Amino acid sequence: MNVAIVGATGNVGRKLLEVIEKLNFKFSELYLIASDKSIGKKITFKKKTYSIVGLSDFDFAKVQIAFFSAGSVIAEKWAPIAAKKTIVIDNSKHFRMDKDVPLVVPEVNSDALKNYKNKNIIANANCSTIQLVLALKPLHDQFRIKRVIVSTYQSVSGAGNAHMNELEEQSKKVLDKQKVNSINFTKQIAFNVIPHIDTFMEDRYTKEEWKMIVETKKILDPNISLSATCVRVPVFVGHSESVNIEFNLEVDSQKIRKCLEKAPGCKVIDEAKDGSYITPVEASGDFMTYIS
Ligand SMILES: NC(=O)c1ccc[n+]([C@@H]2O[C@H](COP(=O)([O-])OP(=O)(O)OC[C@H]3O[C@@H](n4cnc5c(N)ncnc54)[C@H](OP(=O)(O)O)[C@@H]3O)[C@@H](O)[C@H]2O)c1
Repeated sequence: MNVAIVGATGNVGRKLLEVIEKLNFKFSELYLIASDKSIGKKITFKKKTYSIVGLSDFDFAKVQIAFFSAGSVIAEKWAPIAAKKTIVIDNSKHFRMDKDVPLVVPEVNSDALKNYKNKNIIANANCSTIQLVLALKPLHDQFRIKRVIVSTYQSVSGAGNAHMNELEEQSKKVLDKQKVNSINFTKQIAFNVIPHIDTFMEDRYTKEEWKMIVETKKILDPNISLSATCVRVPVFVGHSESVNIEFNLEVDSQKIRKCLEKAPGCKVIDEAKDGSYITPVEASGDFMTYIS
């Protein structure tokens, strides 16, 4: 099949290329699409050099799948246009809660894919939700989850290229005892934590927190009660979460551990001794969700 990546020069687009390579995902033609400022820029992938093409005159009939990772504004306008000619898999928040669009985490609810033809669009969940539901799914199947309280420690990679650059520049300035300016973040991110991701909503939760709540319900079970606190931390790559779960059925830590050890996409590393747990630096670049 032929494949297009819209947002190929961004963080997610470049990761998609890495994943395509690691999984040895077979394709015939590959089209890399980005904003006008990147047209003509070269990207070498699997020993072949590709020129970035623009979005507005790309003919999506040339591909069987188009991955979109260019943000929700681009997705809102362009995904429906592309979906008239191909299947769109969108990474942005725009279509996730659309009742006609399946919101899929493959290890958890791939059966939802059967409805993709409603709009020819498949949505991909928020990064914090994905790793959370991977761990929750087998626990819910076995012990029925009643309530979840989750606090996140989210890396700057989730916000995009510009934010990663800002963490690097601010960190150098702080160490050089220079004045720090925040351009993409609302506060200094270097050597700090920011309890604010995405916009504030009327009920004073942030939209990132709201996304974790509504997406978990849509993917797993609307009866699960969930509260989230989302915090940006000065880590380049790798989101962490502290998860407190209340069950309907009787459980103990051994049963939980056994269940999580079999969870698809997860790996338990947890010996309760010095260094016997995983940290974001070690998890980066890996497909696993680690549980410690
Ligand atoms: N589902 C998940 O797990 C997950 C995780 C992280 C992020 N995301 C989402 O994925 C999206 C991309 O995030 P990111 O971190 O990759 O952002 P990023 O690093 O800022 O990259 C944005 C990409 O979009 C392209 N773009 C911007 N305007 C465009 C336009 N008018 N036409 C075509 N392409 C355009 C950019 O091209 P240029 O280089 O030419 O500007 C770049 O390739 C966001 O919606 C983000 O919320 C999802």
